[in-house]
Amino acid sequence: MSDATPAALAAFAACVTVDDLEEVARARLSKVAYDYFRSGSDEEHTLRRNRDAWTTYEIWYRTLVDVSSPRIATTVLGTDVSSPILVAPTAYHALADAGGERATARAAAESGTLYVASTLATTTLEDVAAAAPAGPRWFQLYVHKDREFTARLVERAKAAGYAAIVVTCDTPVLGRRCADVRNAFALPAGMVMANLVETLPPDLRDGAGSELARFVASRHDAAFTWKDLAELADTCAPLPLVVKGLVRGDDARAALDSGARAVWVSNHGGRQLDLAPATADGLVDIVAAIGGRAEIYVDGGIRSGTHALVALGLGARAVFVGRPVLWGLGAAGQDGVTRVLSLLREELVRAMQLAGCADVNAVDRDLVRRSRLFHP
Ligand code: FNR
Ligand code: LAC
Repeated sequence: MSDATPAALAAFAACVTVDDLEEVARARLSKVAYDYFRSGSDEEHTLRRNRDAWTTYEIWYRTLVDVSSPRIATTVLGTDVSSPILVAPTAYHALADAGGERATARAAAESGTLYVASTLATTTLEDVAAAAPAGPRWFQLYVHKDREFTARLVERAKAAGYAAIVVTCDTPVLGRRCADVRNAFALPAGMVMANLVETLPPDLRDGAGSELARFVASRHDAAFTWKDLAELADTCAPLPLVVKGLVRGDDARAALDSGARAVWVSNHGGRQLDLAPATADGLVDIVAAIGGRAEIYVDGGIRSGTHALVALGLGARAVFVGRPVLWGLGAAGQDGVTRVLSLLREELVRAMQLAGCADVNAVDRDLVRRSRLFHP
């Protein structure tokens, strides 16, 4: 936090929870940037339900288990990670801190966690890789109408040492984030979607509402289907393809049948279709449909290690966090991302110890039950 005031440094040092970090970030960010990071779509029902849904479960803890040193290291698609709490792809990190995606990637690498770099980063995928060459990383892909350009992005990711491609399939168009419309959200002059410079329409900055919505409408391929996904899986080979943005079991089966190696339950942090189901509910549907066939990841509203333990109990192999990383970055740059990842890890370890779990890889379904308060 090179530009931090003594008060900001004190506020950052006093943070105890992810929500505390959000408040410090909010004080440091512009209103337009904070609104963009925080917003869900339309009435934000799904944004709220994502987080609330984790709290409708109870952890039926076991006692007198040796939990003196719980094991939280695991693997995702064969990649070693220090914990099952990983970094979701989010756009525009330079809006949160001058260090941008380089700072996030360095913090993730130092924390031994997986970083998923967004197509819509403000740093090229090559520069993200160069910032933390030893850090485990996947590349998140949006499919453009220009399929050749899309294939070139995949080839660049392969050349830059990314270990998997994550195709996001819940964004054929951009959800309406009302604050972005009111703020006429746009990247500040001099800040660009670094991977996509050659594709930016000349008039992108012209027009009312969200510049990002205009870009997605002009470039994303809303006609992309399961047949195309099978072709994309071939294009990505030998990298495994992960499909992100599913909530339905039948879609998860279709993803695996089309060549996906893993499924990522997500509703884009409540930023796409409002009234989409909470990801905790999508996770239950998808585990029932494909559990045991492939690794299943989940994101959405995970703000504590206890939420993460519920997700693991419901059958997730790992969880991803989006906004918490942005709050860390916005609060204190690379140090803030390091802090949020260590805070979540400490919370997970404590929750495991109190739940009688000695190994994240052995968390079983019976540990977690729907509370009778919500499921009489
Ligand atoms: C996102 N998300 C997202 N997803 C993706 O596949 N590519 C992207 O570029 C982005 N960009 C993005 C920006 C911002 C500001 C947010 C909040 C989210 C969605 C992200 O990967 C993830 O699905 C959600 O953020 C998870 O929910 P939480 O952890 O933010 O509640
Ligand atoms: C968003 C896009 C970038 O949610 O995924 O803002």
